[in-house]
Amino acid sequence: MKKIISFLSCVVIIITACNKKSVPIITSRETPSPVISTTKSETLVKADLTQGKQIFINRCGKCHDLPLPEQFTEKRWEGILSYMIPRARLTDEQGIHVTAYLKANAAKQN
Ligand code: HEC
Repeated sequence: MKKIISFLSCVVIIITACNKKSVPIITSRETPSPVISTTKSETLVKADLTQGKQIFINRCGKCHDLPLPEQFTEKRWEGILSYMIPRARLTDEQGIHVTAYLKANAAKQN
């Protein structure tokens, strides 16, 4: 009787051991990426659409006609602003306001 019990417990141990192996063991987990904003000041500056509009009107019509915000989608503006903000020599803060203003008034689709 003892033999049967120890045999059975052996079987049980083997089965549970096998079952455990079939479950993938996560040894490392990707740490969730912390919320990082692109510029330092972005975390401190609250985008202001009124200021953004003023800066846009004052600074973005110097080299060419002032574009219309609704001429481009948010996505296009992101691309355009990545090189127009430096061209207009805006500060990070001014860039945030202008970006917010243009995105708020951007075309809704392509
Ligand atoms: C120093 C001059 C200068 C300033 C300031 C400037 N731009 Fe431009 N912009 C250009 C030139 C030159 C082009 C056309 C050639 C090019 O795309 O590089 C252009 C093109 C554009 C276009 C057309 C892009 C396209 O793909 O059709 C948009 C929209 C635009 N600018 C928006 C802006 C905005 C918004 C600002 C203000 C943040 C700004 N620009 C400030 C010189 C300037």
